[in-house]
Amino acid sequence: MKKSVQSRLDQGVIKSLIKNNVDVYVFEEIDSTSQWVVERLSAGSVCTVLCVAETQKKGRGRSGRLWQSPAYSNIYMSFSYLADIELKNIAATSLVVGLAITRVFKNLGISGVTLKWPNDILLRGKKLAGVLIEAKTVGQQLYLVVGIGINVRNPEGFNVDSELGWEDLSAEGLGLADRSRIIAMVYDECEKLMSSFVANGFAMLKKEWEAVDEYAGKDVVVMDQNTVIATGMGSGVDDYGCLLIKKDNTVKKVVCGDVSLRKSHEE
Ligand code: BTN
Repeated sequence: MKKSVQSRLDQGVIKSLIKNNVDVYVFEEIDSTSQWVVERLSAGSVCTVLCVAETQKKGRGRSGRLWQSPAYSNIYMSFSYLADIELKNIAATSLVVGLAITRVFKNLGISGVTLKWPNDILLRGKKLAGVLIEAKTVGQQLYLVVGIGINVRNPEGFNVDSELGWEDLSAEGLGLADRSRIIAMVYDECEKLMSSFVANGFAMLKKEWEAVDEYAGKDVVVMDQNTVIATGMGSGVDDYGCLLIKKDNTVKKVVCGDVSLRKSHEE
């Protein structure tokens, strides 16, 4: 079902609200906005592009999962970013983008937004948005393709495969007609924060990230595929964005994995 003109994504509005120069593409339907950006880079189109769509047929989630993308409901956006960073810094980019999104939500007057390492944005403990970063080399240059999905107004009965459950922005009084503005705000804030990260590293953002860390001081388990790789107390992140898990008197550094609260029967 198509929505009224006012509640549709608007290329002109998005472009006019973004501060820096970026080519903005809006699609009714696409396989994946991130895939589209990767393909543009592969085709040698070395530039900064922002791609958004009303729906995705093959939206990509983390760990190869499908990102369900109901039409005229949410935000699905991806952009390319020329990242002059060392490989060891790539992992932290998810955290930087997550932080940029929390800043936008804060500016929109939404409270209770937290981050679940490495890339989930939560509202009242439920999933509000997700970030997927892919790296693509073009010639000698490293581009990041930053994909962001934000729940705005999920259809009734929407069921997502997440043990957290989900929240959307409609619970905060925002609606479909706000999406173009929110996309521009998210793009601008990501660009700003990523530039500062590229220049100064993650260490200077660590405190701000830890202030919204959902699992700080909580008993957690970290899984990689089906294997437990750490259990203990969530203890923030290091200067490169690795998760720190404290157990007895040792601190384990986790580079990648899925974190969840530890249930009483789990060792
Ligand atoms: C996650 O699993 O939490 C990350 C989800 C990222 C989804 C977004 S939607 C826009 C962009 N295009 C994709 O195919 N995926 C990302």
